[in-house]
Amino acid sequence: MTTTPVGIHDLSFATTHYALDHAVLAERLGVDRDKFYLGIGQEKMSVAAADEDIVTIAAAAAAPILERHGTDNIRTVLLATETGVDQSKAAALYLHSLVGLPNAARVVELKQACYGGTAGLQFAAGLIARDPAQRVLVIAADIAKYELDSPGEPTQGAAAVAMLISADPAILRLDTPSGLYSADIMDFWRPNYRTAAIVDGKTSVNAYQKAAQEAWSDYRRQGGRDLSEFAAFCYHQPFTKMAYKAHRHLLESQGHSVDAARIAAAIDDTTTYNRTVGNSYTASLYLGLASLLDHADDLTGKALAMISYGSGSVAEFFGATVQPGYREHLRTEANRAAIESRELLDYDRYRELHEAVSPTDGRYHATAEQTGRPFRLSAVSGHKRIYEAR
Ligand code: CAA
Repeated sequence: MTTTPVGIHDLSFATTHYALDHAVLAERLGVDRDKFYLGIGQEKMSVAAADEDIVTIAAAAAAPILERHGTDNIRTVLLATETGVDQSKAAALYLHSLVGLPNAARVVELKQACYGGTAGLQFAAGLIARDPAQRVLVIAADIAKYELDSPGEPTQGAAAVAMLISADPAILRLDTPSGLYSADIMDFWRPNYRTAAIVDGKTSVNAYQKAAQEAWSDYRRQGGRDLSEFAAFCYHQPFTKMAYKAHRHLLESQGHSVDAARIAAAIDDTTTYNRTVGNSYTASLYLGLASLLDHADDLTGKALAMISYGSGSVAEFFGATVQPGYREHLRTEANRAAIESRELLDYDRYRELHEAVSPTDGRYHATAEQTGRPFRLSAVSGHKRIYEAR
């Protein structure tokens, strides 16, 4: 039976206006900066301005896709996040007024820690398999926040990745099968009353590695490719060193010889953006994919391994095939510009932004004008968030 190929037709990402260099954080915490630069593999992290949230960065990621492709046949919009702005209303509904989504669409928010974007991608593939004329806009957007002076602090960050999923995709075909693994574990979570996540760091690193290995085992049981068939391995990257650790663990668990050069060849190109953006939770895996496509030599026809992990936990291992002519559809220049145009913060301004709290009294509160990005949160009034395009 031949099935219509389905996958990523376009991919665009956005990040915040500000960034913090890890050297600044290291100095403040009194640790060697190489603990961050080399030990966890992070050089900078994106920091949200007072007038940015996941809606503004999601809109900035989605707008170029809608400009290029229009909205025809986009009948589903799935926004995955674990740092949403409302407990009831889907964040993507705000995009209607910001970027002009079609009314004849189902618009839903998805949550399962850093795995949510992959759920969106797979749900989209299922909908398109049912009706190949339809297209689905999937957006993964998060602002990762841990407590000040905690071990998690250097693994914050923020980004949104928007992907247009369609039949006959121009960039990446999603392949079957998928390997799946889920288990009830408290490695990372955020109760409704908290703005910063709670994490058991060491448990989370071990849980990630175990889940990736189990998802791989399931992938093989489902008839998936051999490890040697993949040109690169794109892992969820809470910090970039995690991808190297997880890949080493996977290779060792399968009895493969492991040397640093082999791991570097499989991972290096996936880490360039994440190294400077930081953790973007559910967007992180797809930021890694953008980095790989923008930096690797020609990948036409090559198989990529995609390894998604969301604490709590769910993991998925799936393959994807890079499509002929994909380079003509990449947004490499815009991606680099989004990163390079960030304004670097000093420690005090970073701390001030980190400690700011959203108003809860229902009165009118204008938001300080800080971001230079295309969309901003202009005020909170009557318990409503008011956005504007700039
Ligand atoms: N030069 C070079 N390397 C150095 C160094 C120096 N001067 N000083 C320390 N290092 C190395 C250490 O040897 C260590 O390397 P290995 O991991 O290879 O042993 C590395 O730097 C980190 O050092 P520590 O283990 O001492 O760091 P830590 O305990 O302070 O924090 C962490 C590490 C637990 C990951 C912490 O950052 C954390 O809690 N992060 C949040 C949780 C997280 O990201 N978990 C990942 C899996 S869960 C997930 O993926 C979902 C998600 O997105 C959250």
